[in-house]
Amino acid sequence: MLVTMESVLDYAEANQCAIGAFNVTTLEGIMATLEAAEELKQPVILQFAQVHEALISIHTLGPIMVMMAERASVPVCVHLDHGEDLDYIKKSLDMGFTSVMYDGSVLDFERNVANTRMAVEIAADYGASVEAEIGSMGREEFGSVGAEGEAVASLYTDPDEAQEFVERTGIDALACSFGTVHGLYLTEPKLDFDIISAIRKKAHIPVVMHGGSGVSAEDFRQCIERGVRKINYYTYAAKAGGQAVKDQCAAEEDIVYFHDVAIWGKEAMKADVRKAMKVFASLS
Ligand code: 13P
Repeated sequence: MLVTMESVLDYAEANQCAIGAFNVTTLEGIMATLEAAEELKQPVILQFAQVHEALISIHTLGPIMVMMAERASVPVCVHLDHGEDLDYIKKSLDMGFTSVMYDGSVLDFERNVANTRMAVEIAADYGASVEAEIGSMGREEFGSVGAEGEAVASLYTDPDEAQEFVERTGIDALACSFGTVHGLYLTEPKLDFDIISAIRKKAHIPVVMHGGSGVSAEDFRQCIERGVRKINYYTYAAKAGGQAVKDQCAAEEDIVYFHDVAIWGKEAMKADVRKAMKVFASLS
């Protein structure tokens, strides 16, 4: 069933866990995510990043995401990830997305506050939730961009600034920078867990982790303990799908049809999403 971000975050708070937010760019990605969630009987967030317009348009994938979320046997929030402009945010809401992220993290603080407030006002007309960001985890969601292992400390979220930002914007969740980056890590990530605790204490808001791929199970647990309630995850699932297709094609002596490729990719993505969801939900 299609639900708001607020309801899945309430579930995460009540159960002291985090909800996986999986970026999708294909029908197989949607199926992999929903099948994993249904098998584990867990709520999930299905999300589309504006930057992925380069792969497929939200006009094509968005309505399928909403329709499949409605049909799912578990609660599914359909979320816009890293919305960069208000027109695009409105477009996703018109399509039935129940939650949006406005990403003004590259703007100066005052402009980020002003635009985020406008996003909150727009979303309110649809009964939708809003996530916004201060600090920076790097802009790209393509998985293969040059993530540097450790985010630059000066871009880490300042808890005092986070408090002011949340109070002035009225957002529902805050994407924070505490050492994760989007894409592949070149060295092991070093996370600053105290930033999460300080933000929770001052801003009283669910914290969102971006750049979930490559974070260890132990670090995920620590982050959840400190107050992370939504974990964005894409690169490792996409990589698992790609690797499975590569391996199967190499092993196959017969003709390979595209429908075979789609199924191999989907099954491998599903296994990876399932593994991540179990960690986020603390399931054994
Ligand atoms: P990864 O691709 O590093 O898992 O990050 C996804 C993300 O944060 C999308 O916003």
